[in-house]
Formats: sequence, C-alpha cells, structure tokens
Amino acid sequence: MALVGLVGWRGMVGSVLMERMRAEGDFELIEPLFFSTSNAGGNAPAMAKNETKLQDAFDIDALKRCDIILTAQGGDYTNEVYPKLRAAGWNGHWIDAASSLRMKDDAVIVLDPVNLPVIKDALAKGGRNWIGGNCTVSCMLMGVGALYKAGLVEWMSTQTYQAASGGGAQHMRELLTQFGTLNAEVKALLDDPKSAILEIDRKIVEKQRALTEAETANFGVPLGGSLIPWIDKDLGNGMSREEWKGMAETNKILGQGEGFSSPAVPVDGFCVRIGAMRCHSQALTFKLKKDVPLADIEAMIAADNQWVKVVPNTREATVRDLTPVAVTGTLTIPVGRLRKLAMGPEYLGAFTIGDQLLWGAAEPLRRMLRLLVE
Ligand code: HSE
Repeated sequence: MALVGLVGWRGMVGSVLMERMRAEGDFELIEPLFFSTSNAGGNAPAMAKNETKLQDAFDIDALKRCDIILTAQGGDYTNEVYPKLRAAGWNGHWIDAASSLRMKDDAVIVLDPVNLPVIKDALAKGGRNWIGGNCTVSCMLMGVGALYKAGLVEWMSTQTYQAASGGGAQHMRELLTQFGTLNAEVKALLDDPKSAILEIDRKIVEKQRALTEAETANFGVPLGGSLIPWIDKDLGNGMSREEWKGMAETNKILGQGEGFSSPAVPVDGFCVRIGAMRCHSQALTFKLKKDVPLADIEAMIAADNQWVKVVPNTREATVRDLTPVAVTGTLTIPVGRLRKLAMGPEYLGAFTIGDQLLWGAAEPLRRMLRLLVE
C-alpha cells in the first residue's frame, strides 16, 4: 500500500478533504501518515492505521518516506518545503491544493472529469506534480467543460460571484459577524412594522462605513450588505490575479495555450466577492465558433459528467436549483440560464455554481490520489 503523507488536513479545505476521503473509502487503499506543523508527536486522527503519531511537517526525512504527499497546508508551506524535498532527491507524487506550483511546466492542474487525457499523458511521461486548480476555474469547467472539449469556444467572458470561503475560514466568520452587527444596529426598527425603510437604510450604511478595523480585518472593507469587485493581488495591468487565473488555468487544465500545441482560448471578465458562504457562482458569456442549437448545447453539457445538472431556464427552476444555498455541501454543478444572447446566434449565456470547497478544492485532489493508488 502506498504510504501517503497528509499535510494541512485540519484546516478548512483539509477537513473537507478528510471527510470526502472517508466517505469514499480512500483510506482503505492507502497507509496514511499524518503530518503536523505544530503538534509533531501528538496522536494522529482515527483514520491512522500503523502510523499513529503525528510527524513533523518540516522534517524532510520523514516526508521522504512517503510515496505520495497530499497537502492542503497552503502556499507558504509548499514554497518552503517542496524545493527542499525535491533537492533531497525525493521522487514521489506531490498533490497540492495551493497555487504555488500550478503554472510550472512540470505540474498538471488536476480536474480529471475534464482533463483525464492530460493527466494520463503527464503520468506516462513521468509527471510527479499534481496541483488543484483555482476554485472558480475548476467549478466552471466541471459545468461547461463539454463546450471546450468539443472545440466550440472562440472566447468566454466570466463575471463571478465568489463566496467568502475563498478567502478562508476567518473570512466566513467575518462576513457573518458583519451581518450580525448590521442586524443588531436596526433590530428595534425592524421589529416595528411601521418604521421607515429609509431610516433603516441610513443607519445600515452609517454602520457599514463605521465598521472597525477589527470587524473588517480579513476583507479590508465591509462585505455584509455590499460586494468587493477585486479578488487577490493587483497585477498592475488593470487585472486582479483571480481574473488572470481564469484564462491561464482554464487553458492549462485543457492542455492548450503556452507550452502546448493548440492555441489558448481567450477567457476574461471580472471577479467579484459577494456575501455567499462557500459557493462560487458565475455568469458566462460564450462566443461559439458556430451556431449550435440550444437543445444540442444542453444535451452536450448534461452528458459531460455525472455531476453536472442542466437547470431549465425558467424562473421556478432557477430560483430553486441555481443558488449557492441549493448547491452548498453537494458535488452537483448546476448549469442554467442557458440561452442565446441578443448579440447573435453564436453568443451563448449561462450561469453556473459550484461548492468551492468540494469541486473547487478537495475533490480533484482526492480523485488524483485515487488515480495514483488504484
Ligand atoms: N482565490 C479563490 C477565492 C479561492 O479567493 O475565492 C481559491 O481558489
């Protein structure tokens, strides 16, 4: 059985990963070795078999014992440990949720329902680095990957509605705290049905603008009752890093663009943080290479993988099935609002949602592990 080192299994992504691995029986196929950055020597969790003590996640010799290392510890950890481990001659498989190694030539961004051929090709060539993609990109491709696989996409524009969880656990807490603060500010007025809505509104905006540094420590500005149209670093060219990832990662996942023989498909748009908890949503505009009947498009999308679900483009179905609340905690990727746009028959609109901790983070990693150990 492969000895699999697990790092960062206690954080938010790591916990979702452990839950999914347990649910799918992954631990039956591996000998897990649990690492810790802070509690080496402590007891490993219940899934441990023979290796019941936590190992030091910075101990290169301990890491070197592993056939496979699966980490959700974050980019700083990867940057510190990964080069040392390879320099020490370790030749095992590195599976990572962090973005640090994602765009390296010797790394594959793993999303096997979409890019199994790319993964298999890299495996055959001795690939050893398997990196989870940006959550927005992975969720998008799980939904509309069929259109890319069919070579139908001339370009795509995406406008995202990204949940607080993309920032991390503290960001989710901060969002809820802000909602609570705002509610408390106007509670008495809300309880009085005769109170004036504009008075409530005025008090809310005053409170939002007066939130303390501690109340906005993670997002930097209020998010509750507002939105933030910038995610991740400022690249200095008018783009956010999250927006840059849209095109770079979509193409790398599909095995096209820089370093591959087929050209990149342009992908661009705006990434926006909204007050959802853990589902990233996105409105997509496609320019297709030809006019394909809508029914054919729906059929292609629906047949692409077992998780995608085409939501009929009706009000009733949309408000029921195409919301973060409907999708959270599930592997379902609904794709709805499918319709041809006013710009012409090659222009297609769509709206899709994914749980950013499942398909957006944990699921592609555990599936990559399965590919390696089965
Ligand atoms: N960068 C994403 C976000 C999460 O902030 O929503 C990680 O892929």
